[in-house]
Amino acid sequence: MKKVGLVGWRGMVGSVLMNRMVEEKDFDLIEPVFFTTSQTGKPAPNFGKDAGVLQDAKNIDELKQMDIIISCQGGDYTKSVFPALRQSGWNGYWIDAASTLRMDDEALIILDPVNKNVIQDGLTKGVKNFVGGNCTVSLMMMALGGLFDKGLIDWMTSMTYQAASGGGAKHMRELISGMGYLRDSVAGELADPASAILDIDRKITTSMNSEGFPTDNFQVPLAGSLIPWIDSDLGNGQSREEWKGGAETNKILGNDGIVIPVEGLCVRIGTMRCHSQAFTIKLKQDVPMDEINDMLAKHNDWVKVVPNEKEATMQQLTPAVVTGTLDVPVGRLRKLAMGGEYLSAFSVGDQLLWGAAEPLRRMLRILLE
Ligand code: HSE
Repeated sequence: MKKVGLVGWRGMVGSVLMNRMVEEKDFDLIEPVFFTTSQTGKPAPNFGKDAGVLQDAKNIDELKQMDIIISCQGGDYTKSVFPALRQSGWNGYWIDAASTLRMDDEALIILDPVNKNVIQDGLTKGVKNFVGGNCTVSLMMMALGGLFDKGLIDWMTSMTYQAASGGGAKHMRELISGMGYLRDSVAGELADPASAILDIDRKITTSMNSEGFPTDNFQVPLAGSLIPWIDSDLGNGQSREEWKGGAETNKILGNDGIVIPVEGLCVRIGTMRCHSQAFTIKLKQDVPMDEINDMLAKHNDWVKVVPNEKEATMQQLTPAVVTGTLDVPVGRLRKLAMGGEYLSAFSVGDQLLWGAAEPLRRMLRILLE
C-alpha cells in the first residue's frame, strides 16, 4: 500500500477532503500518515484506520518516507517545505490545494473530468506535481466542459458571485456575524409591522458603516453589501482572481499560452460556500440550443443542465440547493441578442468540493490505479 502523507487535514478544505475520502473509502487503499505543524507525537485522527501518531510537517526526513503527499496546509507551507523536499531527492507525488505551484512548468492543474488526458500524458512524461485549480475556474470548467471538449469556445467572460468561504473559515464567520449585527440593530423596528422601511434602511446603513461592524477579515462590510475585488491588484486594472481565469483555464486544457481568452470581473457576495458565475460565451459557430444542452449534459456525471425557465431556475440554480453537494448545475442558457454565436449561461458550485477538495482525492485515485 502506498504511504500517503496528509498535511493540513484539520483546516476547512482539509476537513472537507477527509469527509470525502471517508465517503469514497479512499483510506481502505492507502497507508495514511498524518502530519502536523503544532502537535507532533499526539495521536493521529482515525478515519476508519489507525494511523499511529502525528508527524512533524516540517521534518523533511519524515516527509521523504511518503510515496504521495497531499497538502491543504496553504501556500506558505508549500513555499517553505516543497523546494527543500525536492532538493533532498524526494521523487514522490505532491498533490496540493494551494496556488503556489499552479503555474509552474513542472506542475499540472488537476481537474480530471475535464483534463484526464493532460494528466495521463503528464504522468507518462514523469510529472510529479499536481495542483488543484482556482475554485471559480474549476467550477466553470465542470459546468462548461462540454463546450470546451468540442472546441467550440472562441472567447468567454465570467462575472462571478463568490462566496465567503473563498477567503477562509474566519471570513465565513465574519459574514454571519455581520448579518446578525445588522439584524440586531433593527430588531425592535422589525418586530413592529407599522415601522417605516426607510427608517430601518437608514439604521442598517449606519450600522454597516459603524465602528462595531465586523470587518477584520474582508476589510469592508460584506453582509448587506458586496466587494468587487478578489485577491491582489495586478496594477493593470485586473485582479489576480480575474487573471487566473485565462491563465488557468488554458493550462488545464494543456494549451500553450492564452489560446482561449477568458475574462471577467470577480465579485465577493454574501453567500457561504457556493461560487456562482454568469457567462457570456462567444462560440466559434452558431450551434443549435438543443445540441448545446446535450453537449453540456453529457460531459460529466456532475453537471446538470437546468431548463431556462423561472421555476426550474429558482428551484435548482442557487447556492441554497447546491451547497454541500457535488452537483454543478448550469442554466440560463440562451442565445443573446448579439447573434447566434453568443450564448449566456449561469452556474453554481460548491467551492469547497469541486472547487478545492474533490480534484485532490481524485488525483490520488488516479495515482493508485
Ligand atoms: N480565490 C478564491 C476566492 C478561493 O477567494 O474565492 C480559492 O480558489
